[in-house]
Amino acid sequence: MIVSGSASQALAAALAAELGEPLAMTETEHFPDGELLASVGAFDAERAIIVSSTVSSDAHVELLQLQDAAREAGAEEIITVIPYMGYGRQDKSFKTGEPVSARAMARAISTGTDRVITVNPHEELLCDFFSVPCESVDAAPHLANALPADLDQPVFLAPDEGAIDLAASVRDAHGAGDTDYFVKKRLSGSDVDITPSDTDVSGRDVVLVDDIIATGSTMSESIEILQGRSPNRVFVTCVHPMLASNAQTKLARAGVEAIYGTDTIERAVSSVTVAPAIAEALEN
Ligand code: R5P
Repeated sequence: MIVSGSASQALAAALAAELGEPLAMTETEHFPDGELLASVGAFDAERAIIVSSTVSSDAHVELLQLQDAAREAGAEEIITVIPYMGYGRQDKSFKTGEPVSARAMARAISTGTDRVITVNPHEELLCDFFSVPCESVDAAPHLANALPADLDQPVFLAPDEGAIDLAASVRDAHGAGDTDYFVKKRLSGSDVDITPSDTDVSGRDVVLVDDIIATGSTMSESIEILQGRSPNRVFVTCVHPMLASNAQTKLARAGVEAIYGTDTIERAVSSVTVAPAIAEALEN
């Protein structure tokens, strides 16, 4: 039985179709004081596969409740699929007194499941924070499927060093092109300073590749720098299209040709589904 968190309904349905498994009728309601109550409805299965991106603090609570509800309803095995794991970027204590939020979340999630599958965590060490078996699925090769087939002398560009491997994966899956990266210094939660490379992008198509677009500052700064160098077209692709607040407007104003993301976070730009990749991980 596939159990969907409220932020992952399309992906859960796609996964149910991919696996030929039924979809539970989950429901989430709020009490007057704001507390959540997430339930799994009528349930008749030994295995529950809970699919829930933890895009908000409420989504984290909802996931813990769905795990408990599935166990309460009789599931003997619970597999938790977290396509996008929120708080995953706080994977260390950056300043004295700060928590390792990713570890705190992973510990809580581990108590209600037998296994975890996630997609392109910010750092692979995220899986080590779980006390149950955890594996990550790589969606990067699938991102290439959404790109136009007629890319002209493409450059697959990481906006920071951490995304170099992703850019190379997308290039390899596309089959042709160069890779390069910029250097990024984060100034605050919403401000970044980008130092560009000296690759000649004039007349060429550029594909910016990152794991996540959050505020859109990283991508919009990168696009603006590229636009000053006369590229042909600038595309943006990412695994997790969080696109918080006015991120999409920032990218549009910077001159992006198109944005492609996956359905780990369900947005209008989520043109690539990770359902087959997750199904493959589940079948192994
Ligand atoms: C950071 O290292 C990540 O890979 C992304 O580059 C970053 O989280 C994007 O954030 P924003 O869209 O807020 O610039």
